[in-house]
Amino acid sequence: RTTIAAIFADQEALGGQTVTVCGWARTIRDMKTFGFIELNDGSCFKNLQIVMDANVLDNYKEIAGQNVGAALIVTGTVVLTPGAKQPLEVKAATIAVEGPSAPDYPLQKKRHSVEFLRTIQHLRPRTNLFSAAFRVRSATAHAIHCFFQDQGFVYVHTPIITASDCEGAGEMFQVTTLDLENVPKNEDGTVDYSKDFFGKRANLTVSGQLNCENFAMAFGNVYTFGPTFRAEKSNTQRHAAEFWMIEPEMAFADLNDYMDNAEAMIKYVIRYVLDKCPDEINFFNSFVDKGLKERLEHVASSDFARVSYTDAVKILEENNDKFDFKVYWGCDLQTEHERYLTEQVYKRPVFVTDYPKEIKAFYMRQNDDGKTVAAADCLVPGIGELIGGSQREERLELLENRIQELGMDPKDYWWYCDLRRYGSCRHAGYGLGFERMVMYLTGVNNIRDVELHPRTWGNAEF
Ligand code: 4AD
Ligand code: MG
Repeated sequence: RTTIAAIFADQEALGGQTVTVCGWARTIRDMKTFGFIELNDGSCFKNLQIVMDANVLDNYKEIAGQNVGAALIVTGTVVLTPGAKQPLEVKAATIAVEGPSAPDYPLQKKRHSVEFLRTIQHLRPRTNLFSAAFRVRSATAHAIHCFFQDQGFVYVHTPIITASDCEGAGEMFQVTTLDLENVPKNEDGTVDYSKDFFGKRANLTVSGQLNCENFAMAFGNVYTFGPTFRAEKSNTQRHAAEFWMIEPEMAFADLNDYMDNAEAMIKYVIRYVLDKCPDEINFFNSFVDKGLKERLEHVASSDFARVSYTDAVKILEENNDKFDFKVYWGCDLQTEHERYLTEQVYKRPVFVTDYPKEIKAFYMRQNDDGKTVAAADCLVPGIGELIGGSQREERLELLENRIQELGMDPKDYWWYCDLRRYGSCRHAGYGLGFERMVMYLTGVNNIRDVELHPRTWGNAEF
């Protein structure tokens, strides 16, 4: 038994050989005495053309009468057909029906809208779009691991359930064993968490960063790669409630080290995907985003821009007539501003650095001006923010003051502060949104179409 990918990869050697492939029929054409099946097994983007002959197959009628979507096992001879539309086909000696498909199979040989496909998420991996998106997703994950492993980063696993809110935005899904209809209360009316499984309020992690810092202070360079959760009600094309994040953390490193590493990582991943997924990228380039390939090749071979938040705000203020939300120093940049900077001003990826401390998280290192922090977001055309990161505050006193200022409970962060008491050092890290990276690599413009079962506001059916 082999795969369609293996047949195409090794076609010269396989000409005239007998193979067995298992897959699902994309189309079935019956011309009475002979017919064709386009078979797909998910191993690659290509379909395999199966030729069936009524004189050869004693169950010809049964096979020709199958509906699209049927699961078939085909044994036959590989015939090279140079000059034809497809370089090879398989002349079937036997075809067995592993599982027939009902006549109301909803995927037909036409382009279905992405909106329709979201209503049949269990079947959409069998379409060209999802087949390509998910193989790119797989290759992207592999490339990320290769990049960090080759540089000696240790892959660590940070917990999914946590008591701290890394980003301090309060957008957490609570995890509890308390009966919500009958919540135990303290005398002062607050929830009595001592009766809860963990004895305190716990939630799904919004970021593994704080735990990653624990690892970095022992291993130097580390990264985590796992699911993260945000109870954001933003119903946009770029936000999901469950998404994956890659979070490297580097000891004895500063903001520039983070940006250098992130830029090299993105270029590496682009080159890897262009190299390993040519059929998929050609498909996206033809049907989803016409400039994709050229743009990716350009990004992989040119420098990213870098601009301070203060300078970026000056540029944006001059163009305030173009924005719904008017920009001023101190405001959080909206997607429209981020996209304007990267698409209109720089026309390539750009790191915006040194944001006002009020709009960034408590752990970011304060700059000497007293107003900004050593943060950097990487913005890319078509997406906006792809990466968020910073140099971390390694000075105990400044960190403790910031925790107090923000009204956070220092008791919750005692272990995090401890790192600053025992061998503290400069360190920096970042978070790459994995789905946004896949969107960037494919040109797919909605996060709902790079996750099989997206978790967004009001959606958890599948
Ligand atoms: O900018 P964020 O919130 O940064 C952090 O969580 C840091 N603790 C990371 C770190 O320094 N280790 O999130 C990082 C990235 C964003 O740039 C974005 O790409 C992605 O995660 N992201 C989301 N992707 C999809 N849906 C959402 N709701 C997202 N929120 C953030
Ligand atoms: Mg961010």
